[in-house]
Amino acid sequence: MSVIDVLQQRKSVRAYLDKEVPKNTIINILEAAKMSPSGVNMQPFDVCVVSGNKKTTLENKMLELFDKGKKEKMDYQYYPQEWIEPYKSRRKATGLLMYQTLGINKEDKIKQLQQWRKNYQAFGAPVVLYFFIDPILEKGSYLDYGMFLQSIMLTATELGLGCCPMASLAEYPSIVKNELNIAKEKILLCGIALGYEDTNAPINSYKTDRVALEEFTKFYD
Ligand SMILES: Cc1cc2nc3c(=O)[nH]c(=O)nc-3n(C[C@H](O)[C@H](O)[C@H](O)COP(=O)(O)O)c2cc1C
Repeated sequence: MSVIDVLQQRKSVRAYLDKEVPKNTIINILEAAKMSPSGVNMQPFDVCVVSGNKKTTLENKMLELFDKGKKEKMDYQYYPQEWIEPYKSRRKATGLLMYQTLGINKEDKIKQLQQWRKNYQAFGAPVVLYFFIDPILEKGSYLDYGMFLQSIMLTATELGLGCCPMASLAEYPSIVKNELNIAKEKILLCGIALGYEDTNAPINSYKTDRVALEEFTKFYD
């Protein structure tokens, strides 16, 4: 598959088969992704690969708090504090598309919450990669990290796996760091769910669109 094909094929996968991912495949993905560029080759990457009992324990701890309506403060602010256009409409359209696909009414907050809850189980993916960054690093390293994350997702796609980047998996940072023995100063960025796509699941049947090139590009001669 060409890079362009992989870029077009990748999508966020939100239902997985009950099928293990071989450790070697995960290693191959990370070996490829580590070739991503970073400012002065700093390589600010710090990954925990979580599966099996550890994954279940961790998600149960997050769900326990979620079900009690308890929240933790994320280690960093991912989304804007205030939603303005055009981001507000794009966010709304993305949510609507998913709920429409699932036949969930936009007023049905209970079903929406039940669907959101599945985030903390990484949508049933057998593997979750958790990503941390050193707090002394600056915004530049977040650029580097984004490239690394996309490299992981493109490689996974090329190898026939499905994945989903997940900021929701960074919503309970102290639980994740405690369970994985990570220093509490480290910043938990996000997770990536990884596994084999359940191609029969309705939630995997839609594809998000993108704005036209002219909306975000200016050419100067
Ligand atoms: C850093 C990051 C965090 C995300 N967090 C979540 C998440 O917590 N839950 C979720 O269902 N999707 C999450 N997404 C997926 C986005 O909703 C998705 O990428 C977007 O709607 C575009 O769809 P696509 O990935 O299928 O192309 C996240 C995406 C990124 C890049």
